[in-house]
Amino acid sequence: MADWTIEPFGKQHDRAAFTCGRQPLDDFIRTRVSQYEKRRLGKTFVAVPQGGARVIGYYTLAAGAVLFERLPPDAARKLPRHPVPVVLLARLAVDLSAQGHRLGEGLLLDALQRSLDLSAGLGVHAVEVDALDDAAAAFYRRYGFLPLLDDPLHLYLPMTTIEKVLG
Ligand SMILES: CC(C)(COP(=O)(O)OP(=O)(O)OC[C@H]1O[C@@H](n2cnc3c(N)ncnc32)[C@H](O)[C@@H]1OP(=O)(O)O)[C@@H](O)C(=O)NCCC(=O)NCCS
Repeated sequence: MADWTIEPFGKQHDRAAFTCGRQPLDDFIRTRVSQYEKRRLGKTFVAVPQGGARVIGYYTLAAGAVLFERLPPDAARKLPRHPVPVVLLARLAVDLSAQGHRLGEGLLLDALQRSLDLSAGLGVHAVEVDALDDAAAAFYRRYGFLPLLDDPLHLYLPMTTIEKVLG
């Protein structure tokens, strides 16, 4: 069994000391997440040690769309020429104290499963992510994310692939 649980963000979670090594991701969970929840701009799920409240990782999901022109030709060939609906994996980060213990993978798989569940009641063609840098993009590519045409850090994973792996 994992040493952590992943649950919806709430006021009880202690995130004052969260540090992943990337300032914007630290600032978000420390100071901005509540506003995003309140205004329904993003839904954040946090990992906490079993029975604890200290945030050791998190991810944020939001609704998104990918422009048709940004899809690789093979994927675009089968689609109508308008933006495709996606789940945007807006942020994903693991505290330095917990990195290297498969929590990043656990959070990513949880986000993909949640997106697959959502797709049962809503059109969701893929999961989209804007990686912060090459290292982050390499992490996502390990799990099958493919580059979109505008930027090598802009990646997506088709729902059909997610369904094959997790469904
Ligand atoms: C990227 C990050 C989420 C990875 O989390 P983690 O818990 O350390 O990673 P895991 O232990 O789950 O690693 C799972 C696999 O991914 C690999 N991996 C981890 N970080 C990687 C990276 N930056 N590049 C390539 N592969 C990476 C691991 O080696 C492991 O591979 P294995 O299956 O061969 O053992 C974490 O390092 C982090 O929060 N970084 C700072 C914030 C960030 O860059 N977030 C993503 C930006 S959008």
